[in-house]
Amino acid sequence: MPLVSAKGMIDKAYKNGYAIGQFNINNLEWTKAVLLTAEEQKSPVILGVSEGAAKYMTGYKVVADMVKAMIESLNITVPVAIHLDHGTYEGSLKAIEAGFSSIMFDGSHYPIEENIRMTKELISLTRKLGISLEAEVGAIGGEEDGVIGGGELADPIECKMIADLGVDFLAAGIGNIHGVYPANWPGLNFDVLSKIDQVTGDTPLVLHGGTGIPEEMIKKAISMGVSKVNVNTECQLVFAAATRKYIEEGKDRIGKGFDPRKLLAPGTEAIKQCLREKMAFFGSVNQA
Ligand code: 13P
Repeated sequence: MPLVSAKGMIDKAYKNGYAIGQFNINNLEWTKAVLLTAEEQKSPVILGVSEGAAKYMTGYKVVADMVKAMIESLNITVPVAIHLDHGTYEGSLKAIEAGFSSIMFDGSHYPIEENIRMTKELISLTRKLGISLEAEVGAIGGEEDGVIGGGELADPIECKMIADLGVDFLAAGIGNIHGVYPANWPGLNFDVLSKIDQVTGDTPLVLHGGTGIPEEMIKKAISMGVSKVNVNTECQLVFAAATRKYIEEGKDRIGKGFDPRKLLAPGTEAIKQCLREKMAFFGSVNQA
């Protein structure tokens, strides 16, 4: 069973100067598209599941069981991690119990001492179980599942405090924002990234808000210690655009074009194409 913790694949990416894509999922079609594209590209992959998406898919256990069953019936051979995205402490415990292989505990909204305390507790639990743990310092900007931040920059000292606890990888705000970037976005802050990288030693860094960050900026971030890049909104946007085109061209009115299997096909194909492009410039193709 290629379901693995994300630690091994990210450590390998960190050492070799590429990044693994985390692609968030929220339904069956989409999950299948990510798994099949990863297999086609021979790329390790991380399926990100937010607490909201897990609830939408009727629970952590349903998601974990669905992914495991799909891996088996689609004959997936590349390493796959099911990763809780922006988990609360309670959500992290539930996802672990349900069989997730990787957890992000987002303690960035707590005072640093509280973040440290909870992160420490989760480290001792995840270590015992062979599950990887991502922690976060400093709110990432934008909005995701109702969480709003302001494109913040993390404090390198706080990053060091959390990295020193022994988390497997660390998300730190470097001006990145979830969702579509505003037209006046100043770009990633490479000075802050460089300071964070210097003080966090060998801890791989995670770049959230991967949608719409120019390829060159992502490549530079990867060269500076970023080993996981999260993408969600971009897949939603290409899915919506392809579905809109299908309907506007009246294809749902031809034959059984209204059948969801046909209706969802162009959007799903658009997601696959988006994933191929991301995997190529993250450098994870043929790294399985
Ligand atoms: P985007 O939706 O901006 O791609 O961000 C995804 C993400 O960071 C998930 O944690």
